[in-house]
Amino acid sequence: MKSHGLSELARRSIDPPISWLMKVALARPELISLAAGFTDDLSLPIDETRAILDEIFASPKQARAALQYGSTLGDGTLRRLTAEWLREQDGAPGNSAGAYDPDRLLITHGSQQLLYLLTECLCDPGDIVLVEDPTYFVFLSILQSHGLACRTIPLESDGLDLGRLESTLESLKRSGDLPRVKMLYTITYFQNPSGVTTSLQKKSGALFLLRQFERDARHPIYFVEDAAYRDLRFEGKDIASALSLAAHRNRVVYSGTFSKPFATGIRVGYGLIPRPLLPAITRIKGNHDFGTSNLLQQMLARALDSCRYRAHLPVLQQRYRKKAAVMAKALREQFPDEVTWQEPKGGLYIWARLPAGRSAGMKSDIFKRALDRDLLYVPGELCYAPDPTRRAPKTEMRLSFGSASEEKIRQGIERLGAVVRDRV
Ligand SMILES: Cc1ncc(COP(=O)(O)O)c(C=O)c1O
Repeated sequence: MKSHGLSELARRSIDPPISWLMKVALARPELISLAAGFTDDLSLPIDETRAILDEIFASPKQARAALQYGSTLGDGTLRRLTAEWLREQDGAPGNSAGAYDPDRLLITHGSQQLLYLLTECLCDPGDIVLVEDPTYFVFLSILQSHGLACRTIPLESDGLDLGRLESTLESLKRSGDLPRVKMLYTITYFQNPSGVTTSLQKKSGALFLLRQFERDARHPIYFVEDAAYRDLRFEGKDIASALSLAAHRNRVVYSGTFSKPFATGIRVGYGLIPRPLLPAITRIKGNHDFGTSNLLQQMLARALDSCRYRAHLPVLQQRYRKKAAVMAKALREQFPDEVTWQEPKGGLYIWARLPAGRSAGMKSDIFKRALDRDLLYVPGELCYAPDPTRRAPKTEMRLSFGSASEEKIRQGIERLGAVVRDRV
């Protein structure tokens, strides 16, 4: 029989590039991977996690509660503490409680699940999602498997090009496609992959524009703020989230995670959701798993409550500051001047651009020769959404300083530099 009876979604779902990149990295232990967004092994909070588990299991009553199912929305204490943490980060005044109401908080299995649930909650096949250009390529796989189209908005050094956002919305209005536009997806802190951080003015400008076009869309167009890397800042001051913009609060979906800043293996994320969306997204979460692992949630609640989370952040930030500096120094020494990149102030990535005409794509000589030398990076082309209105560049590489040791980072950039020097 030729058909396996697969659904349309299953047939549309291609192997996400992330799976291939992770598989290659795991299958070849000798390989230096500057590709997948793994975090730093040595700073994972082993002692903190052991102490928290000991605390939970010290009392049979607590242990039983932790080992039971919980609720679909998530653990009440974790939701309260997460909302308080966000409010504190945003430096929000006392009268802004509504924006950070724990009742609007949904705990998910990583923020990846939140992005998936949100897509299912808002979009039908044929709908359009506005995305930054480039963007997080795993999110693109979600959109692709759901049969959604993308329109891309270029990035400037402080976030979205608002002129292009406006002209894109105008053109969608003219073509009658605005009712198919459901959300604008942004990664506002140390963007994956470009490293760009969005200013508060840009968040406000984007929200203002989305609202201008809502009348023609005949429904809200949500501003999705993915803040996965917010807590990984090692230089400069934090910027408030779009939740702090009181006028637009019911159009903002804030997606956060404890994966990157605490432990990717614990994998707990969350969303602060506008009230009208909350019942629907909670029902969908109910169908997926009717609640994130209770034990993991209780562990994080204790990490937040005991300040272990807060104390862990500077340790982590210090470590990434050092690794980023090692990568930047190696790039200065090993790469030709024609390759451009920004010194990172947080996050996990450096986005390096080769001169026009030089491909670093999956099928390029550079990628193949780097792999022959046991060096893996993310070809930038994977981070560009399919968009019929522009041609995606192939000249970029996403280089992660997250998981490789300092020594491996040096060696990796040396190997890559030799390949790139050969080609430029
Ligand atoms: C931009 C962005 N959002 C969300 C995620 C999902 O992370 P998690 O599901 O571990 O919270 C990632 C992971 O790499 C990411 O880079």
